[in-house]
Amino acid sequence: MKHLLSIKELSQKQLLDLLALAKEIKAKPAQYNQALAGKSVVMLFEKPSLRTRVSFDIGINKLGGHCLYLDQQNGALGKREPVSDFASNISCWADAIVARTFSHSTIECLAEHGTVPVINALSDLYHPCQGLADFLTLSEKFDDISQVKLAYVGDGNNVAHSLMYGAAILGASLTVMCPPGHFPDGQVVCEAQALAKQHGGTLTLTSNVEDIADHHAIYTDTWISMGDDVDLADIEAKFKPYQVNQAMMDKAGAQYFMHCLPAYRGVEASANVVDGEGSLILQQAENRMHAQNAVLVTLLKNK
Ligand code: CP
Ligand code: NVA
Repeated sequence: MKHLLSIKELSQKQLLDLLALAKEIKAKPAQYNQALAGKSVVMLFEKPSLRTRVSFDIGINKLGGHCLYLDQQNGALGKREPVSDFASNISCWADAIVARTFSHSTIECLAEHGTVPVINALSDLYHPCQGLADFLTLSEKFDDISQVKLAYVGDGNNVAHSLMYGAAILGASLTVMCPPGHFPDGQVVCEAQALAKQHGGTLTLTSNVEDIADHHAIYTDTWISMGDDVDLADIEAKFKPYQVNQAMMDKAGAQYFMHCLPAYRGVEASANVVDGEGSLILQQAENRMHAQNAVLVTLLKNK
């Protein structure tokens, strides 16, 4: 493993090893408090963030490393100088790059032109760190993650893509339910279908809300992602039947609710579900740090 650009690049063993290491770091933090000693990580963010920025910064600190945050006040990536020069210059000093960008191709460019590991902290296409934290969370609730029946309801976006690859590689069952016209990227669907077939999982795509029956957990995300240029009223009208509320949870027989956050209560999910007993949102948020620390320890081992 050289970088973490997308979950699709991981073998099943690499993914399971990352989840196991994340659990180990979470359980025995003192054993890893020097794992990144002497290492510096540069974080480049083109978009706002709470969880990703804070969990990387504090997580790197807990591993004994140093982190430097660069926002767009230093000039948008690729504007003042080419992204390739960002990558090659940062590689002179830092041991890894964490990047949140609008375009996934910017992250690919950083990986291509830098000489240090690059971690995708969210792009238009993927959110692998979120997916890892989510499967870590599910694996804390279910002994055998391949038996989990998860439904993702809402926009077929970056978070959905990462869940699709993760569920497929783990051999789990995932239903992706979206309004017509808002399905995940076609290439991602094909690749995830092939991975699901290879690992004995199932990936179902539907617009029919009746298909929510028989799921352990329902996951949703904002209907409008950062960088989306859409009409709010139009989106709300199309997505309204897909709000995750108590009626949908009951119809699914779902015990758990998941959301990557930030959540818009009363929009993609009702407040009583977001804040309800079965909500895993804070466990997911906490697990961002442990999952990312497992990625950092794995990528920087022996460097
Ligand atoms: N879930 C997530 O990535 O949150 P932030 O946008 O706050 O980092
Ligand atoms: N899909 C959302 C996730 C935010 C963490 C976005 O890209 O804005």
